[in-house]
Amino acid sequence: MAGAASAINIDDLRSLAKARLPRMVFDYIDGGAEDEITLRRSVDRFADYEWVWNALVDVSKIKTATKVLGQPNAQPYFVSPTAASRLFHPMQGELATARAAQAAGIAYSVSTLASHKIETIAAAAPDIPKFIQVYVWKDRGIVRDFLARAKAAGYVGCILTVDAVSAGYRERDPRNGFSIPPSVNWKTATQALARPGYLADLARSPEIGPANFEGVDTGGRDVMGVINELFDRTMTWKDAEWMAKEWGGPFAIKGISTAEDARRAVGSGASTVWLSNHGGRQIDTSVPVVDLVPEVREAVLDEIEVIADGGVRRGSHVLKLIARGATSVALGRACLYGLAAGGEAGVARALEIMSVDVARLLGLLGVPDVSDLDQSLLRLRTR
Ligand code: FNR
Ligand code: LAC
Repeated sequence: MAGAASAINIDDLRSLAKARLPRMVFDYIDGGAEDEITLRRSVDRFADYEWVWNALVDVSKIKTATKVLGQPNAQPYFVSPTAASRLFHPMQGELATARAAQAAGIAYSVSTLASHKIETIAAAAPDIPKFIQVYVWKDRGIVRDFLARAKAAGYVGCILTVDAVSAGYRERDPRNGFSIPPSVNWKTATQALARPGYLADLARSPEIGPANFEGVDTGGRDVMGVINELFDRTMTWKDAEWMAKEWGGPFAIKGISTAEDARRAVGSGASTVWLSNHGGRQIDTSVPVVDLVPEVREAVLDEIEVIADGGVRRGSHVLKLIARGATSVALGRACLYGLAAGGEAGVARALEIMSVDVARLLGLLGVPDVSDLDQSLLRLRTR
């Protein structure tokens, strides 16, 4: 296969990413917790929901626009927050993805653990809605400053992630000797040397780490050490309420799995409930999100936005989540495979594959406006 532009589907981008990255870096994107059952099932479960369609509908005009955190979004999907993008493309990192999102007219979410400064990312994509994702440091002063900086830089929504009180047990990482930043030692040298192009990029770019907290003393911890030891495990709904108030704008709680917690999220001031199992990276054998959407939609009624993510590799996956009741869908690995495969052009190709998929399928389903899609066109396979 040639470059990212010739990728036919997201899996092709994944193969290109695998060929470009040292194994430890590829596995950090690609892997999940423990036996990776949720990782696999989150993709496979979509196949159990089968379509019926409306015949003889005028589908000459297709509408794909939705809202995310109340902001206009050209597609039913947008970019999910992911840590340390410069690992996957040492030169461009988050800037590549943000620019590709801007070209596609979709929103971009920046991780607390981004490897570029949030101001630099905002400047790279001034025309789209941008959201700031928050992991809460024990020192709340750091969080307050971060939120204030995000506001000043033009971020219009805040995402509090609540399914990562510590990092899940991703067994590929210790097996590969992986850390962020990656270090070349006896365990990783062979993997690194097998990818000289990547190694050269890494050597020419600044060290990869939590770029937004350079003044914070992390005691030499790598990014997983920061998550496990410097983020606050005393967090409760009261703290979520504090943060919603502190932010004072569109606010999503990411990593909800039950109707009861969805109601609590709304009660705590969230304008958006985000159903996620963190792409199978946290609790293995957690339920694929597509199964959970209807009960959460029912719990929060129609006024509240519901975002869903996990295992989305095709436009049909996006539309199944929407049909089950999600307002919009977040893309994690689909964009990261593109980023690793070809920087900005790779992410652009991933987003193009998705947009063509979505428009084609809406036409075939006889649903010209994505907002009219509902469960009446889905059957759960029982055989
Ligand atoms: C993530 N995810 C994530 N979520 C978050 O809130 N903050 C973060 O920093 C990260 N970091 C991160 C890194 C990597 C490499 C991956 C793959 C994922 C989770 C992400 O936002 C999203 O919930 C999942 O990726 C969705 O699943 P898919 O689309 O990757 O299958
Ligand atoms: C991850 C953390 C950073 O999933 O959210 O790797």
